[in-house]
Amino acid sequence: MTRSQPRSPLLQKPKRTVSIIGTGSYVPERILTNADLEKMVDTSDEWIVARTGMRERHIAAKDEFTSDMASHAARRAIEQAGIEARDLDLIIVATVTPDQFFPSTSCFVQKKIGAKRAACFDISAACSGFLYGIEIAQQFITSSTYNTVLVIGADKLSSIVDWTDRNTCVLFGDGAGAAVLRNRAGSHGVIHTYMGSDGTLCDVLSMPGGGCRIPPSSDLFEPKMRTIKMNGKETYKYAVTALLTAANVALQGAGLKPDDLACIIPHQANLRIIEAVADRMRVPIERFMVNLDRFGNTSAAAVAIALDEANRTQRMKLGDYVLLIVFGGGLTWASSVVQW
Ligand code: ACO
Repeated sequence: MTRSQPRSPLLQKPKRTVSIIGTGSYVPERILTNADLEKMVDTSDEWIVARTGMRERHIAAKDEFTSDMASHAARRAIEQAGIEARDLDLIIVATVTPDQFFPSTSCFVQKKIGAKRAACFDISAACSGFLYGIEIAQQFITSSTYNTVLVIGADKLSSIVDWTDRNTCVLFGDGAGAAVLRNRAGSHGVIHTYMGSDGTLCDVLSMPGGGCRIPPSSDLFEPKMRTIKMNGKETYKYAVTALLTAANVALQGAGLKPDDLACIIPHQANLRIIEAVADRMRVPIERFMVNLDRFGNTSAAAVAIALDEANRTQRMKLGDYVLLIVFGGGLTWASSVVQW
């Protein structure tokens, strides 16, 4: 008689549903307006509003770091989720402006919020980092490795902006956004996630110095290498294509059409980019969550802050479909479809 093959009970576990059970965000107190920028570089409020839609952005104090902003956002997300920091199994921080190269910013956050049980790591996907983090969290939860994951997008881009370069310095602000994800019974939750990258475009948007390629100790190093270099026109061109690809793949994966969406939360890089995407998707611009006029582009925090604002202002009702889309340096892009 042949013995039947033993089967691990884990293999019979049904696919778990992953829900966003709390969101939070934080921006620093100090506001930098277009009028302030007029005094710093050769620019005007008129040019900035017409070309980007931005009016003001928040700038962190010298002694306020990415982990500080991330911790404020995290506490708010944890409070809304109705859990304690010690319930967290994993903390993922997406950032290109870590407090230090190591330890990771997520370890600093762990210490600040007291999430003693959590494993911690950072990810680097520029502005796309928060949605990369959502996908990673979803994978960890659906595989039953973890139950409760905190994902944070946080950046202090003001620390790497060249404040004499009008092509870039008007675009960026500082901030952090966070979401708590957890396995939850029922059908609502993260339905489909998608990530994409194209490393052949790594020079379109980058910070060339400060890493091991050109370390600060190198003869080749000069301080401006530790600032953002961007080909604005190229970035713009790829941004629209990347966001549309991200939207289409996620919608297809979720079996939905643009018309089914109650709210779209895009990267907050430029109002003209968002309008172009709305136009191509044939979705009224009113369904897009836009707050770049008040915060500028906060990099990995942008989609996370917009999600928190949409949540707290009740832009979505229970059961609504929400699409999040982003692009960033790398180039990278990503999307998530969530049933709220
Ligand atoms: N004020 C006044 N004039 C300016 C400014 C400024 N702040 N910045 C540039 N200009 C000038 C340029 O020098 C140029 O002058 P010139 O014609 O004499 O050379 C003129 O304005 C037009 O410049 P363009 O680059 O053609 O302006 P454009 O309409 O493309 O807008 C912008 C520039 C806003 C940067 C746009 O290309 C853009 O948004 N690109 C995408 C940027 C982006 O998304 N970056 C972040 C992506 S990823 C992440 O989030 C980290």
